[in-house]
Amino acid sequence: MADIATLAEPLKQNETPAHASRFVRACLRQPVDRTPVWFLRQAGRYMPEYMAVRRNHTLLEICRTPDVAAEVTITAAERLDVDAAIIFADLLLPFTPMGLDFEFVNGEGPVVHQPVRSREHIESLRTDRADELNYVARAIEKVAKHFAPPRADGDQLGIIGFIGAPFTLASYMIEGGSSRNYIETKKLMYSDRGAWQLLTEKLITVLVQYAQQQVQAGAHVIQIFDSWAGALSVSDYVDFVLPATTELVRRVKAMGVPVIYFGVDTASLLTTMRGTGADVLGLDWRVPLDEGWRLAGPDVAVQGNLDPIALFAPDDLLKQRVKQILDAAGNRNGHIFNLGHGIVPGTPVDAVINVARWVKELSTR
Ligand code: CP3
Repeated sequence: MADIATLAEPLKQNETPAHASRFVRACLRQPVDRTPVWFLRQAGRYMPEYMAVRRNHTLLEICRTPDVAAEVTITAAERLDVDAAIIFADLLLPFTPMGLDFEFVNGEGPVVHQPVRSREHIESLRTDRADELNYVARAIEKVAKHFAPPRADGDQLGIIGFIGAPFTLASYMIEGGSSRNYIETKKLMYSDRGAWQLLTEKLITVLVQYAQQQVQAGAHVIQIFDSWAGALSVSDYVDFVLPATTELVRRVKAMGVPVIYFGVDTASLLTTMRGTGADVLGLDWRVPLDEGWRLAGPDVAVQGNLDPIALFAPDDLLKQRVKQILDAAGNRNGHIFNLGHGIVPGTPVDAVINVARWVKELSTR
């Protein structure tokens, strides 16, 4: 097929490097020579190379030091031999320029010291300092430069920038950290629609600038993490989350890059989530891939969806699960192989490397 042959050919006029990336092509549901693969949280605590860097730096130091963030990003993508690199950063970084202090407490995750609980507090959040996040763009520039030459097979490695979605970020701001029931978030949503809307608008103002910096620096695709959207009923998602998220997706797509929209435990929401207009929907592992794709609809691409804990299974079972996911996708245009959520600490690195290899072997067209 001509489309596939162009992967190894020099770029034509008007083509950006992203057109030669099977990852970007899959996001746009274009034909590919094989299924692209990368892993959520591919640079993290399961990887000895990351832990070695982490011994000398806090998480925030890594994020805020472009040389180190770029190194961690590049090392993971090369070690795993995947088709895309996601920039090493964190969802919560925009809180600082908005005027909300937080830290990562070992074993507890993120902690916001003064959670947002009132309209006055929301009104005081700043949206005029997004340029302070530029260290992420500087790191992306370094990663993009490193991966500028095509790989041995002619493919351009995909570069992913990312931002949080309004609901998931607001939930960290309001709960002050991780949550089980999202009581404070939903209380604010239900009781003061105006305050909730102001908060999501402020988040969007900052997130659009932050995504723009990342795209200008060389990100080919932006992934929007709505990790905790699965805590919402369909009615609440439609009422309180869909309009703001749709607006964010629209404004990021206007930057000329495909958007991946991801959440966990979203089987009941997928049909509604496609209303955001995202090019790709991330599927968690609880929904069979073909069923999830049916719910998402034929006009979107899907990313997923191996259970991250399956990486602890013996090789034969793990390989079988990889094959089942590829079979469910059936070589249709628009599947990106990934996990249904992030790699957890303690995951054997060899299992991750094997999965990447098996996806390539089993999906070559
Ligand atoms: O390669 C990669 O994917 C790593 C880059 C990355 C990090 N955070 C670094 C990080 C990415 C993509 C994120 C996104 C992120 N951050 C999400 C969305 C992804 C998801 O899993 O749904 C969320 C919800 C956060 C907020 C966050 N940051 C939490 C809840 C935690 C604690 C997690 C834990 O298991 O302790 C973090 C900390 C964090 N961010 C770590 C890393 C590598 C682990 C802590 C460390 O290295 O010190």
